[in-house]
Amino acid sequence: MDIVYIETSIVSHATAWPSSDPATSVLQIQAKRWLDEQATNRARLSRYNDRVWIRAIATLTALAVFAGTVVTAAGPHAGNESAPRLDVDLPAAARLHGLVVVWLLLVSTTYIIVLRRRVVEDPGVQDSAHALTRPMRLFGLAVAAQGAIGYIQYFNSTPALLVWFHILGACVVWIAVVRLVLAEHDSRGAAVEVDRVLQPS
Ligand code: HEM
Repeated sequence: MDIVYIETSIVSHATAWPSSDPATSVLQIQAKRWLDEQATNRARLSRYNDRVWIRAIATLTALAVFAGTVVTAAGPHAGNESAPRLDVDLPAAARLHGLVVVWLLLVSTTYIIVLRRRVVEDPGVQDSAHALTRPMRLFGLAVAAQGAIGYIQYFNSTPALLVWFHILGACVVWIAVVRLVLAEHDSRGAAVEVDRVLQPS
């Protein structure tokens, strides 16, 4: 509520007729500068399509987790020994699960390279690129480590001990993707809020 109040105040200062009162006039200039910066940030962010990349990454992660639970439900570690199993081909399900992860790794690596190039080629966007680079790298690391554990499991008939690490890794990967989504949301931050104030629904 307070944020909306402050933003409404900034927008009304920036768009009002110039005041003859010096103190108000300084505030108006500051508010206008701030609004211009937000507009530039918005233009940059939409040009770079961060939201599309991160949504694709989050969707692939959700698919990987879903496919993983199918693998477990069809395999030897679901419930006790007499528990009914999902009637799907275990190696095929594991390969499909692995394939989703391979795509996830490809998309993530490409996006890490895209972010890196942005920082190098366009120093003006360092802030937004830096805001996403760190959570994206951590996510990439988590997926790579998890993928390694997964393939070790796959080629060694899924030893029970590694399943613990795989589930722990799945939690870490999920936490990392949520942090990434939040970082993208934050990098838009005030710009989105200002849009809302300028164009109330
Ligand atoms: C981002 C990477 C990955 C994530 C988030 C992930 C997630 C999961 C999840 C959530 C499960 C189910 C755990 C349960 O419900 O008990 C699972 C199981 C499994 N995953 Fe993955 N996984 C990843 C990578 C891989 C890779 C690359 C492979 C290699 C083929 C793999 C092989 C397996 C196997 C064999 C199981 C069944 C383990 C068992 O219960 O016996 N995973 N995975």
